Amino acid sequence: MKFAVASLFAGLALKAAAAATTLDQLASSVDKTESIREIKDVTATFAQLAQFGRYAEMAALFASDGLLVWGNASAKGPDTIRQWLTRDAGDMNGIQPGSLDAIVIATPVVNLAPDGKTAKGRFNGLRFQGDGKGNTRMQGGIYENEYARVDGRWKISVLRYYALYEGNYADGWRNIGHENLGPPPPFHYTPDEAGTPVPLSTVTDKASGNTTDFRTLQYRIDKLNDEDEVRNLQHAYGYYVDRRMWNDVVDLFGNQSGTIEIDNVGHFEGPQRLRTALEQWMGPEGLGQGVLNEHLLFNTIVSIRSNVSLSINNTGIEKLADSRGLEIGLIGDAAKGTASWRFSIFRNTFAKSDGIWRMLNVSISPIMVANYSGGWSNGSMFPSPATISLDKPLFLDYSRDETGKAPMLDGVASLEELERRLNRSAAYDGVENVSNAYGYYMDFIDGKACADMAALHAQEGNKESPFAGFYQTPRRIREACTAAYGTGEITNRSGVSFHWRPQPVIHVSHDGRSANLRARLLQPATGKAAGSAQLRGGMYQDQMALEDGIWRLWSVTIDEFYWGVSSWKDGWSGVKPRAANASNPAPRDLIKQYPPDLLLTEMGDPRETGFQGGSGRYVAWPEIQRMWFGYQNPVSGRVPESYWPLCVPCQHRPEWKLSQHGWLEPPAGPPWI
Ligand SMILES: *[C@@H]1O[C@H](CO)[C@@H](O)[C@H](O)[C@H]1NC(C)=O
Ligand SMILES: *[C@@H]1O[C@H](CO)[C@@H](O)[C@H](O)[C@H]1NC(C)=O
Ligand SMILES: *[C@@H]1O[C@H](CO)[C@@H](O)[C@H](O)[C@H]1NC(C)=O
Ligand SMILES: *[C@@H]1O[C@H](CO)[C@@H](O)[C@H](O)[C@H]1NC(C)=O
Ligand SMILES: *[C@@H]1O[C@H](CO)[C@@H](O)[C@H](O)[C@H]1NC(C)=O
Ligand SMILES: *[C@@H]1O[C@H](CO)[C@@H](O)[C@H](O)[C@H]1NC(C)=O
Ligand SMILES: *[C@@H]1O[C@H](CO)[C@@H](O)[C@H](O)[C@H]1NC(C)=O
Ligand SMILES: *[C@@H]1O[C@H](CO)[C@@H](O)[C@H](O)[C@H]1NC(C)=O
Ligand SMILES: *[C@@H]1O[C@H](CO)[C@@H](O)[C@H](O)[C@H]1NC(C)=O
Ligand SMILES: *[C@@H]1O[C@H](CO)[C@@H](O)[C@H](O)[C@H]1NC(C)=O
Ligand SMILES: *[C@@H]1O[C@H](CO)[C@@H](O)[C@H](O)[C@H]1NC(C)=O
Ligand SMILES: *[C@@H]1O[C@H](CO)[C@@H](O)[C@H](O)[C@H]1NC(C)=O
Repeated sequence: MKFAVASLFAGLALKAAAAATTLDQLASSVDKTESIREIKDVTATFAQLAQFGRYAEMAALFASDGLLVWGNASAKGPDTIRQWLTRDAGDMNGIQPGSLDAIVIATPVVNLAPDGKTAKGRFNGLRFQGDGKGNTRMQGGIYENEYARVDGRWKISVLRYYALYEGNYADGWRNIGHENLGPPPPFHYTPDEAGTPVPLSTVTDKASGNTTDFRTLQYRIDKLNDEDEVRNLQHAYGYYVDRRMWNDVVDLFGNQSGTIEIDNVGHFEGPQRLRTALEQWMGPEGLGQGVLNEHLLFNTIVSIRSNVSLSINNTGIEKLADSRGLEIGLIGDAAKGTASWRFSIFRNTFAKSDGIWRMLNVSISPIMVANYSGGWSNGSMFPSPATISLDKPLFLDYSRDETGKAPMLDGVASLEELERRLNRSAAYDGVENVSNAYGYYMDFIDGKACADMAALHAQEGNKESPFAGFYQTPRRIREACTAAYGTGEITNRSGVSFHWRPQPVIHVSHDGRSANLRARLLQPATGKAAGSAQLRGGMYQDQMALEDGIWRLWSVTIDEFYWGVSSWKDGWSGVKPRAANASNPAPRDLIKQYPPDLLLTEMGDPRETGFQGGSGRYVAWPEIQRMWFGYQNPVSGRVPESYWPLCVPCQHRPEWKLSQHGWLEPPAGPPWI
């Protein structure tokens, strides 16, 4: 069943524009925005608990009549679900010494029903398991979950995992049943719905609880805004780590006495020691040729502490926040032929002073460090399995019950100002939604998906077709897509290259109507044949705009690929460098068939130099390609070496700028509000 979201939301938006927002309407909108966050957090918690074999707590996240459907298996009710989870994991449960159960649930498109009582969410899934005794399992697929609000808390009513690929570590994954893949798992949304922001509510649509107290509302909206900034910091930190940009990482701590603690490695305090910790754990500043230091961040929960004034008087700190999630390190040095996996749990603390969020304490708990060659089949090389704590790091409470917690606030904002601030947080979720919706259509690309993908774009929006160039307007984007993939529907395909867009850094403009987005491209690929597992990565640098009440893609740029495997067996360090004199790959046929509005070659030096289809010599992994950043350091404002802010093609097509079409350009450096 689909919710009639688009028409209904449009009606509400009109009403809201006509009549001034009331406190009750604002309260209900806050409640809905919080609901979307809590639904994401419940889902991340399900994933986080698995690593520690806490199946009873995972089952307790379900409603009393909750249903789990995992591939061809199913279980109903928390107790049966607990039993199934326990039995299915067996010794691959994170408890058995040397075992691993790393569940990744990423890239949400969350849809709240208009009454705010139920919701649906689509996610990408991967699961890496091992028992430490030689047995491994990898699973990949897509979740289409349902959620319900029970006694004020969001619960999972249906967790439906569509199993698409699986395998053991040594052989890599391949399609389930070694068959062709059918059509994509059903979508619960249309392109319009994916971009429909949280609606303002009618007065009769009251939020639950007595949330209409003005002070409490302001406090809750502040928390949502803080959460966005902290999540951006966490994710931006990850991107600096990938490139070993230690100057930028240290900047994120500001001048406060921050700490980095790595279990079984050490405790490091103060700017100089922070750098020592980073170098000791991950190597020197910068990436030499052939070095991979990817740290993919998943299942991230951010929680703003409620009780700060109790604990940190006289420190100048106004607020504290915590983050927790899973970090999957893909480490290697192709020149030496070494490669390894590093699975860790991170739990970090952030502090706000002078109105600026900074990192305070970083805590990394490695749970599995394994050579690429043998993987995690025989357990962790470091730390020794026996020393891995099952109680640490602590889980985060994502509860959003703020009853009685709001302190006296110094300044009280107007209702309109509060609504503006809330709009900025609602934008964060709307942008993430439409970004991920794009990825899901690209996965199972065919004529139908081309139309849906193109419809996600704004009327004057533009998108890059890889290795070719940019097309402007949904019609041109659709036709370029069908020129490459045909107009028909494909219901039976031998393989899929997935387009995950995790770890977003989203900078929303002052009025909440436009945004910049950086997100990873993570591309697990699967096929029917043995040995078809692949994994590679790139980077998206996009802009989004709220057009007629719906979030749309304004500009989509893909910088790819930065790294990858040529075969699962050889891994990322087994890729042979291209010969220095090798000629560049031939231009895509698309360029002749359906010429782009802006060719990558026209963009020339420096933006597209070295990328496939760009100018100059093609730089392919394991050579290191330049990494572009669209924003300055979020704390210090340090300008990155390769800096290309805002809409990427707009330096060559100024008429494509957001600001030429009635939108604000989102900020590319501090201050972020
Ligand atoms: C269920 O799926 C698993 C793979 O995920 C497969 O091994 C098993 O044979 C399937 N069972 C049935 C009854 O189809
Ligand atoms: C708020 O809710 C609590 C618990 O339901 C209730 O005890 C209290 O009287 C309510 N306060 C107001 C101002 O309505
Ligand atoms: C640290 O303090 C110095 C001196 O006040 C200042 O120049 C610098 O910008 C600060 N660094 C950060 C990252 O805030
Ligand atoms: C403050 O809140 C955190 C969780 O947000 C909790 O762990 C801690 O015990 C609380 N401290 C006090 C003093 O209430
Ligand atoms: C912090 O300050 C508040 C009021 O300024 C006071 O009530 C509280 O006891 C102080 N907390 C500590 C731990 O000193
Ligand atoms: C940060 O880490 C230091 C050193 O471990 C510790 O003393 C301090 O309490 C931590 N701060 C917070 C807010 O957790
Ligand atoms: C990991 O790989 C390196 C290089 O291939 C090798 O020297 C080392 O013995 C391996 N360690 C384990 C525990 O397999
Ligand atoms: C795991 O250990 C077993 C038994 O010692 C050994 O036979 C096997 O080769 C090991 N596997 C890997 C991948 O190292
Ligand atoms: C918040 O967003 C709604 C929906 O887009 C819009 O109608 C309203 O004017 C915005 N409020 C402010 C203060 O910007
Ligand atoms: C995300 O998309 C769904 C439609 O699938 C929509 O119902 C929901 O409101 C969107 N969320 C946001 C925050 O825009
Ligand atoms: C899918 O393709 C396979 C071979 O590629 C074929 O055996 C099968 O019948 C096809 N299924 C459908 C539904 O077209
Ligand atoms: C590249 O150089 C090698 C020797 O260094 C030579 O054998 C090869 O033919 C050259 N290839 C091209 C495309 O020039």
